[in-house]
Amino acid sequence: MLLLAAALLAVPDYHSTIAPILERRCVGCHRKGEIAPMALETYVQVRPWARAIRETVLRRKMPPWFAVAGTFANDPSLTREEIAAIEQWADGKAPEGKPVSRGRAISRAEEPPAPDWAMRAPAVRIPAKTELEYQYIILGEFGTDQWVRRVEVRPSDRRAVHHLVVYARAAGSAWLAGRPKNQFFTARPEEGATTADILGVYTPGTRATELPEGMARRVRAGSEIVLQIHYNPYGREAKDASEVRLWFSKTAPRYNVLTLQLNQPRILIPPFARDHVETVSGTMPGDALLLNFLPHLHLRGKSFEYRIVAPGGRAETLLKVSPYDFYWQLQYWLATPRLLKKGTRLQAEAHWDNSAANAANPDPSAEVTYCEPSRCEMMVGFFDVAVGADVDKESFFLRR
Ligand code: HEC
Repeated sequence: MLLLAAALLAVPDYHSTIAPILERRCVGCHRKGEIAPMALETYVQVRPWARAIRETVLRRKMPPWFAVAGTFANDPSLTREEIAAIEQWADGKAPEGKPVSRGRAISRAEEPPAPDWAMRAPAVRIPAKTELEYQYIILGEFGTDQWVRRVEVRPSDRRAVHHLVVYARAAGSAWLAGRPKNQFFTARPEEGATTADILGVYTPGTRATELPEGMARRVRAGSEIVLQIHYNPYGREAKDASEVRLWFSKTAPRYNVLTLQLNQPRILIPPFARDHVETVSGTMPGDALLLNFLPHLHLRGKSFEYRIVAPGGRAETLLKVSPYDFYWQLQYWLATPRLLKKGTRLQAEAHWDNSAANAANPDPSAEVTYCEPSRCEMMVGFFDVAVGADVDKESFFLRR
């Protein structure tokens, strides 16, 4: 009885209980050079944040995660026991305890070796208030065929980058043909659209993406890296020089990975609409293994759902993100990749809140259409699929 009472009263300490939780679930972002504003790697760093940590985990604000349906390999959510331990620790004056030797945590697994390809774009000045048009730049050329297995985008000012897409433009492509290299330019509307392969999409909250064993993205010799960057003004003048780092696979993988999208350009959201809905669907032109999702909406976005619709109309939800948060555009990796047979219909459904109740809404009285700046809306459901190593985007979409 006495022992039981002692166990109930014992306050968990940092070294034995809290540090392993933070290492597993937090320090991936909360460490030097990563996306969070402060490191949470040592007791000295963590102690001043004890109360804030308690609040954010109790309110499930941290770690950030917005999937309310679907099962995902990269779900970082804390268990109820972990949350309770953090709460007791913070309420009990956040004791340090004695250092214990532990193996290295998963999230601190060996740092990857130096990238095989890296390039920093020249600096761009972002005005305090005016939104810049999409900035494009063509960088570096591939001398030989490569398989890209890991991609990291490192903005120098993360607050300024709303999104950044890394494309591989094939040799001889008509897209942005004749544009100068190694300097930023803006594209005319008819120039912007492309079917070029996407190597990576950086959005707020995303870190490096590494493909599973046996998977990589083929980049043909002669291809060039093209960046499309959408900068966000945030109240004071800023400067960003984003860097892209690529790691290549030394051996040929079993699968080529393609980024596809369900894109709905016909959006019309009435002024003050509280719950506007749009859907878009597409049919798989061939068999493919579905790997992950990355929903993209702008400031009025409320929720986003991906589902498979069977021929009879029955729908199966694979991911539902709610609430959609413009400032946390995460990638959701299926716990088990899903084989989509040729002819499978994938559907995306997005909801928007254009009312004044949406604190992020720049203008509830506006009738909102599709356009690139964040005062308008977009609806893009990115998803990655794995196909045979000899299949590329073009042959995948050719009727077979
Ligand atoms: C995906 C990256 C990521 C992960 C994982 C993550 N954080 Fe954060 N965290 C951030 C970023 C970015 C911010 C600053 C922006 C914000 O507050 O939304 C932040 C802010 C915070 C804050 C300050 C909140 C405030 O109100 O000022 C606390 C406390 C915090 N995180 C704790 C944690 C804890 C504890 C975990 C793990 C259980 C965790 N975070 C996991 C990225 C992350």
